[in-house]
Amino acid sequence: MSTHQQTTTAEEARKRIESLTRQVEHHRFSYYVLDQPEISDPDFDKLFHELQDLEQEFPDLCLPGSPTQKVGAAPSTEFKSVKHRIGMLSLANAMSYDDLDRWQERLIRALDNAAHDLNFVCELKIDGLSIALTYKDGSLVEGATRGNGEVGEDVTLNLRTIAALPQELKPLKLPNGSNHMPALIEVRGEVYMPVSSFTALNKGLHDQGEPTFANPRNAASGSLRQKDPRKTAKRKLGLWTYFIYLTDSEIKQPNNHFENLELLQNLGFPVEPNRRLASSVEEVKQFCQDWSDKKHDLDYQTDGVVVKLNDRSLWDQAGSTAHSPRWAVAFKYPPEEVDTVIEAIHFDVGRTGAVTPVAWLRPVKLAGTTVKRATLHNAEQIRRLDIRVGDTVVVRKAGEIIPEVLSVKVENRPVDSQPFVYPTSCPVCETALERIGSEVVFRCPNTFACPSQVRRRIEHWVGRDAMDVDGVGESLIDQLVSSGLVTHVSDLYRLTESQLLTLPRLAKKSADNILAAIGSSRIRPLPNLIFALGIRHVGTSGAELLADKYQSLEKLAAATADDIASIEGIGPAISEGVVEFFHHPQTAKLIDELKEVGVALETIVSDLESAKALPQTLAGKSFVLTGTLETMERDTAEKNIKRRGGKVSSSVSKKTDYVIVGASPGSKLSKAQELGITIIDETQFRKLTEDPDGTP
Ligand code: IVH
Repeated sequence: MSTHQQTTTAEEARKRIESLTRQVEHHRFSYYVLDQPEISDPDFDKLFHELQDLEQEFPDLCLPGSPTQKVGAAPSTEFKSVKHRIGMLSLANAMSYDDLDRWQERLIRALDNAAHDLNFVCELKIDGLSIALTYKDGSLVEGATRGNGEVGEDVTLNLRTIAALPQELKPLKLPNGSNHMPALIEVRGEVYMPVSSFTALNKGLHDQGEPTFANPRNAASGSLRQKDPRKTAKRKLGLWTYFIYLTDSEIKQPNNHFENLELLQNLGFPVEPNRRLASSVEEVKQFCQDWSDKKHDLDYQTDGVVVKLNDRSLWDQAGSTAHSPRWAVAFKYPPEEVDTVIEAIHFDVGRTGAVTPVAWLRPVKLAGTTVKRATLHNAEQIRRLDIRVGDTVVVRKAGEIIPEVLSVKVENRPVDSQPFVYPTSCPVCETALERIGSEVVFRCPNTFACPSQVRRRIEHWVGRDAMDVDGVGESLIDQLVSSGLVTHVSDLYRLTESQLLTLPRLAKKSADNILAAIGSSRIRPLPNLIFALGIRHVGTSGAELLADKYQSLEKLAAATADDIASIEGIGPAISEGVVEFFHHPQTAKLIDELKEVGVALETIVSDLESAKALPQTLAGKSFVLTGTLETMERDTAEKNIKRRGGKVSSSVSKKTDYVIVGASPGSKLSKAQELGITIIDETQFRKLTEDPDGTP
């Protein structure tokens, strides 16, 4: 072989190793972290082996941290500390337009009073959390939180779940027409939670009896710092970027900030579109003015406008104080508060019986909407603030979303005002309220007959993540409950066309559609059913874990708290919630009734030979498959295991009983060997599933 050829081969190998490393990392992430493999195991194994072979042949080219060195294990979700290459400063605030003038004066002084024609870039100040992203050769290698500005936390895995965040960048076009990818890029931006996701998240948490987040920023921060990236992925975070630092000489970084934002966009980064170049502070003020109202129309929260000097070549000269640069400032909108009068205090009785006091207000405009109600949280809050009907109060939108009563203007209190007396019985069904343990909330214990709780339970039952009954909305539920047609969820399945036609304004066609939608919800998957029951603390992911383990409602009902808590991902709050729920005598009745009306109470095996028909010889055994089986499809193998009561898992752990090995097995084999788990081949596996007495 000539020297020339060898160099080409090594160069080719380098490129291939890089590409394979990237692909393998990507698929490991989809598989282990997101639980959403994009390719089959054999295809993954092919890539992995090709990489392993190449690295063996060219050990010098093996990249540091190559996935071949971290066999089998899921990527670590520990948040390492990361020292920021470039410190992450904060911004000085301007609380008024005068403050903006003063900022410009300070800036001009810092620039030695030179007669610069200063231009400014106005950007909406996104209310999220700032992050630093590092890209090497166009691939994301690290993402970190701000931390204390010097050192942050490595949240790369969680950031990778954000759809807007590019994992690979688009190359830049050089003037000569060729493509160019800068070697090292640092990007700064803001991760946020869209208002719509925030509202949905809090609704879900509230429905599960869990504490809710105060505002989208807290929710974004909590979501980005989840130990389990699958949870982050479900939170639907967004990203806007606003700084780029290129440490690469081939491309000249524009020296004005506005063009840098375009550069970010050309590389594939999301940049908030409502930015504007302003040629004076007066124009900046106009921008702030324009957006003080318009900002309410966006699906993300903004708490001000960030104003940056456009000319980056002056940034150094302008300099920084210890905390913030002089070339930028954050104009903050005043807090959105307004005075109004409490006309009445009403109570909301939720699905779990929790009673929440709600102030009915004289309608006022606040942060873009008309506010008519505000939460008073609980009895304690009313007592602490001495809130009374007739009081003038200050109302604020907490994080601009949920209005709350902040304080009472005692000086405006009517002379005949009386302290508010908190009810001792349920405002809906008049049952005496209870307080459980150290909880601050009062609850109505009339769980199964309080019309408000019944209504809420049915609303929850028909919800999308529950039994997903189309066309049964709040007003129909109201009618069904108040007419006495429905008291328990099982009553839904007994409704007849003629009963529905007795309801006002309901035509035959809609009645039929409603009955059809209710009918088809009889066979929802078990996780939906478990979620629909509205067990305290059991959300959609908890319901999935429970369904996976018990496969039927009856088995779940019979499980002990310890057994439930032994499931990975299930904590004591859930397990106790489940046991408490199934201990309730009404629950047994509910299950009987659901059975009677034909709701499927177990995992449905579409196969005619249903799971129960076979002896459950593999009950309690956990299997992992790796490599290609010769005589059967993977699906069939999995079905055969499940039909005999076994469980199939995607990764090997101490809890695995058998690893079934086919042709070209992957890293799961070595992991199994490491943990001393029984390894069987296809023939042994066939025996296990075909012959009830066979043992490997
Ligand atoms: S620039 C040198 N631009 O606001 C600091 N920050 O109050 C540079 N923020 O820590 C920050 N939107 O978390 C910048 N368009 C934007 C922003 C923005 C939101 C946040 C960021 C920063 C904080 C400062």
